Amino acid sequence: MSGSIDRSRMCAYVNIVLLISFLAVVASSVVIWVVLPAGGLHGATFLGIRRGPWTDVHLVSGAVMAAFVVVHLTLHVDYFRALPAIVHR
Ligand code: HEM
Ligand code: HEM
Repeated sequence: MSGSIDRSRMCAYVNIVLLISFLAVVASSVVIWVVLPAGGLHGATFLGIRRGPWTDVHLVSGAVMAAFVVVHLTLHVDYFRALPAIVHR
């Protein structure tokens, strides 16, 4: 398959993006939920960043994760086709 990108390489890139975006979603959710909760101290910051931009980090990393989960799932359609047989084995 010279010239075209092979499946396992494609999976690897997608998985790296998933891992990084997942960690960003979880970390930013802790910031906007525990560290800088809604209705907390006015003007409070974490790492010099206010709550608003942290929710932007959360939304953007969440959207990237959601989009790449769709790509990740399409790369594993064969697995989902095989699932019923695996369950009923
Ligand atoms: C959120 C971040 C996620 C990460 C970091 C992640 C990572 C991985 C990795 C490393 C693999 C094994 C390598 C591969 O086959 O590509 C894998 C396989 C798989 N993932 Fe994910 N994944 C994530 C989310 C999801 C979600 C949300 C679903 C489904 C709802 C899912 C469904 C699957 C399936 C069906 C396989 C193949 C399982 C198999 O062949 O035994 N993944 N994932
Ligand atoms: C691991 C998965 C996730 C966790 C644990 C999580 C957790 C949270 C938490 C704790 C809040 C704060 C709620 C509040 O203070 O009222 C929040 C808000 C929010 N989340 Fe998530 N979230 C996740 C995934 C996502 C994804 C995938 C998206 C978008 C694609 C998303 C978009 C949002 C938005 C738009 C808000 C509102 C932010 C605001 O206050 O303006 N989240 N999330």
